[in-house]
Amino acid sequence: MRTQVAIIGAGPAGLLLGQLLYEAGIEAVILERRTPDHVLGRIRAGVLEQGTVDILDLAGVGERLHSEALIHGGVEIGTGGRRHRIAFKDLVGKVVTVYGQTEVTRDLMDARAACGAPSIYEAESVELHDLTSARPWVRFVHQGIEQRLDCDFIAGCDGYHGVSRRSIPAEALSAFERVYPFGWLGVLADVPPAWDELIYADSERGFALASMRSEKRIRCYVQCSLDDKVEHWSDARFWEEFKRRVGEDVAARMTVGPSIEKSIAPLRSFVVEPMRYGQLFLAGDAAHIVPPTGAKGLNLAASDVFYLHEALAGYYRGKPREVLDQYSGRALRRVWQAVRFSWWMTSLLHRFPGEDPFFGRIRGSELQYLFQSESSQKALAENYVGLPL
Ligand code: APR
Ligand code: PHB
Repeated sequence: MRTQVAIIGAGPAGLLLGQLLYEAGIEAVILERRTPDHVLGRIRAGVLEQGTVDILDLAGVGERLHSEALIHGGVEIGTGGRRHRIAFKDLVGKVVTVYGQTEVTRDLMDARAACGAPSIYEAESVELHDLTSARPWVRFVHQGIEQRLDCDFIAGCDGYHGVSRRSIPAEALSAFERVYPFGWLGVLADVPPAWDELIYADSERGFALASMRSEKRIRCYVQCSLDDKVEHWSDARFWEEFKRRVGEDVAARMTVGPSIEKSIAPLRSFVVEPMRYGQLFLAGDAAHIVPPTGAKGLNLAASDVFYLHEALAGYYRGKPREVLDQYSGRALRRVWQAVRFSWWMTSLLHRFPGEDPFFGRIRGSELQYLFQSESSQKALAENYVGLPL
């Protein structure tokens, strides 16, 4: 087989890149290790920056989002039984869109099926070859048969555990990482939210987040220890702990329900530089991971593939190869801004096990400053709604 761009991974990054390239008249084949149902079964975040919504519109997949998504003009930050609303609209004139990543992925999968562009699911043993030559190629096994895909470029959209980043010689990459000493236990339940906007709550017992997918489905998290297991947490235990952290008024009025999904996610900050090796370009979780506190993971995947599609479209329209050389630096400038913000939000809202008492006071003081200073609230708001593309 031959194509212009081989895309490894059919998560949000790979699918969105595929649609952007299709709209630009550039051929691409997507190779995905799992089945469509497995990809759709992953429950992730659900807050979209305006820039991400614009990119989804550019890819031609915004219709259902615009009819079903919720628009939020702010979030609430809680600590010590008090809550303060960060009013995005008043502070920076922007809003965020609440629409689950699963729905974004479903819309992208439907659009790709509708346009007939090729995606190969259950592609096993993917290997990337001749990355620094003018003719890279991909080997994979599909339905037991070994296949070869020749291409001009490879887009590594295969996430943190994918094969793309691992195909780059270690000496060609610099990795930056911070692993946080706690995780998030998340629950999805089909009950109406007892909150209008997201609540990020710092409490003596640890962090909690009250979010939602729709007017009928909530997504709630509690900070948990690294050695916690999902089986340690019955629904009853989760809801009791969530209520003790999120605030008495919310606890008193909220309804709970059986978990339809329950999982623990570790928290890490991770970036590799550069996001390119020869004809291989990394995008999304393949290149970086952020703790979910800033809701940046999906939004960074979107901005990466927006920049990558612009670079590839420029190249195929005859621009000098420099347009490809600019991708990594352009993407990383935005990546590091989001990594910083996600690290800051995580450090602000979580009590770290064995925390230095000095840092505990700094954290409390930072929260106090946030509550009293419009400048501090503006800084949080402009990062949360998304810095300009
Ligand atoms: N071969 C083919 N496909 C692979 C391989 C491989 N060797 N390894 C991984 N994949 C696939 C995975 O099955 C997955 O569907 O690549 C896809 C990567 O998707 P994501 O991990 O969702 O990463 P990305 O598309 O960058 O989206 C980032 O997803 O994980 C969340 O928080 C993250 O919201 C962010 C978003
Ligand atoms: C979610 O709804 O899953 C969600 C929202 C905001 C975050 C993290 C997760 O910061």
